[in-house]
Amino acid sequence: MSAGTDRRLMALALTLGERNLGRTWPNPSVGAVVADEDGSLIVAGGATQPGGRPHAERVALASAGEAARGRTLYVSLEPCSHHGKSPPCSDAVIASGIRRVVSAIEDPDDRVAGRGHALLRAAGISVEVGCLADRARRSHRGHMTRVTKGRPAVTVKLARTTEGFAGSRSGPRLLITGEDARARVHLMRAHADAIMVGIGTILADDPFLDVRLPGLESRSPIRIVIDSGLRTPVGSRIVGDSGRVPTWIVTTAGASFEAERAFVASGAEVLRVEPDAAGRVDLGQALQLLGARGLTRVFCEGGPELANALARADLIDELTLATGRSARGQGDVPALGPDLQDFMDGLRLVGDEGAGSDLFMFWEKP
Ligand SMILES: NC(=O)c1ccc[n+]([C@@H]2O[C@H](COP(=O)([O-])OP(=O)(O)OC[C@H]3O[C@@H](n4cnc5c(N)ncnc54)[C@H](OP(=O)(O)O)[C@@H]3O)[C@@H](O)[C@H]2O)c1
Repeated sequence: MSAGTDRRLMALALTLGERNLGRTWPNPSVGAVVADEDGSLIVAGGATQPGGRPHAERVALASAGEAARGRTLYVSLEPCSHHGKSPPCSDAVIASGIRRVVSAIEDPDDRVAGRGHALLRAAGISVEVGCLADRARRSHRGHMTRVTKGRPAVTVKLARTTEGFAGSRSGPRLLITGEDARARVHLMRAHADAIMVGIGTILADDPFLDVRLPGLESRSPIRIVIDSGLRTPVGSRIVGDSGRVPTWIVTTAGASFEAERAFVASGAEVLRVEPDAAGRVDLGQALQLLGARGLTRVFCEGGPELANALARADLIDELTLATGRSARGQGDVPALGPDLQDFMDGLRLVGDEGAGSDLFMFWEKP
């Protein structure tokens, strides 16, 4: 099999897995493809299913049935080797008669960590690891960050005018990006486990923070507000419709319990962490708590103050800036605070993409 064919089929496996990002937490969204020896026939494909089970390998192998015998399995993450809520995928691969496995990366979860590959090799299957490894690490960044750091991976997204402003305190709401860019952002939301903002954004904009793309409405992830003193209005949109899309408010241990009761009565959930030295939500602890609840990918849509504080605490893994080239209105809230500007020096620009007249730029931690 040529390396080019392996890459083409692994790219397909990755794409299948990436379609379900945001739906499989606490599990990674893996993709798998079963193909014949020279890659000319794709026998079956599969992705981790919503809720995290069944795993991609089982979906693909079940679909291939007897036709898996003697074939090659492409999988975007090492097959699991432990008995969790379902039996190990490595057992299923061995039982299927697959002859060769091409795996993108090892799973750093210490219940797997190379044992999945070792079990396959011990059963006489040829195993090659490392095909499209960089893309797989990006695709599984949420899972990798959660198992190695105990917290979800954080992508910060901010929109700015060409002058560098993210909002306006003194004037009417600034309209920064157009329809195409907004649709792109809604797609990014659909691939996140949660959307997170600071209380300043709720007070200024009263956003819905949901997915409003035709056909993808059911993919609205959990909404999270970082709010040290429970200032979120009970009448805000994200609290009002928390029966439709869950809303979690992360606050400090000392915040009012009476206020909490009002949120709970409206269907929102209140999570408490210890305050930091400034009396605000300790962001490191907040993210650890979200990781313990199973979240792997948090999409933080600002505002600028929360984004700056996340940068100060070294809690940003990816940064997306959308520059609105035909923004309407006058801004006076700078998008990039001083800590975020410094933090960007350590990030790597990994791509850009136009959306209508607007421009997205993507950075990530090397
Ligand atoms: N262009 C964009 O992408 C974009 C995105 C969002 C918002 N905006 C605009 O930005 C403005 C609001 O942004 P903002 O920066 O004032 O609000 P923000 O970042 O949404 O929220 C800041 C608030 O978060 C709370 N917070 C809790 N723990 C914190 C911590 N550890 N560190 C920092 N903050 C913490 C603080 O209030 P407590 O201490 O009370 O908790 C703080 O005042 C509005 O004009 C809005 O329209 C623009």
